[in-house]
Amino acid sequence: MKLLLVALKQTHRPGAPFRCCSTLRSSGSPSPSQDEVIVGSSPELVRALGSQVEVRPGFITEEEEAALLQELEPGLKKKRYEFDHWDDAIHGYRETERVRWGPVCEGILNRVRSLAFPQGSPLLGPVHVLDLDKAGYIKPHIDSVKFCGSTIAGLSLLSDSIMRLVKDNSPKEWLDLLLTRRSLYILRDQARYNFSHEILKDEESVFNGQRVPRQRRISVICRNLPD
Ligand code: OGA
Ligand code: MN
Repeated sequence: MKLLLVALKQTHRPGAPFRCCSTLRSSGSPSPSQDEVIVGSSPELVRALGSQVEVRPGFITEEEEAALLQELEPGLKKKRYEFDHWDDAIHGYRETERVRWGPVCEGILNRVRSLAFPQGSPLLGPVHVLDLDKAGYIKPHIDSVKFCGSTIAGLSLLSDSIMRLVKDNSPKEWLDLLLTRRSLYILRDQARYNFSHEILKDEESVFNGQRVPRQRRISVICRNLPD
């Protein structure tokens, strides 16, 4: 999966954020709504990206999270976290890919697929599973256009985290996404091709002025194939 990543050198620190003010959801759930989990360098940018960036807090239930973990933990536990490759985009991680899932997990993934991808869009067969240690993080990168298509959709298990998007060649334009535990995020089109994405390390994990402690985090990522 390392092949998918092209690390970019970036030392950007965002200034004061603007709140996103898009879709308000009127669910009775305690999860924050989408307008509370996306902030950006300007309201124009948040608006311009619109549906190309989505965060759905509480996309899976605690039971569904447990079902995913039960399926993934045995395989992950056999691997060691990798820390020492200085040139990697990802630090402090172990990973795997999975094609076949039990019925509960398959049901969850089908919900992700039908929401995230255009109907009939050919998907990358194996689902990518990335286990970040508490001390792990993902540096800014853009997924390889050779191997993945227009859309990236990821579930976050075990921990809240912050994903930062920074516009390629225009580092003053950025978005921070609060990926709450059990949320789903989707990056499409421009947000996927013209912005780097990264997962902040624990020490830097501050969303809209609010500290967001990072624990061990597992992401389950679906991608489509390039045209
Ligand atoms: C990746 C990546 C994000 C995540 O593996 O390319 O950006 O949610 N992962 O783990
Ligand atoms: Mn990526």
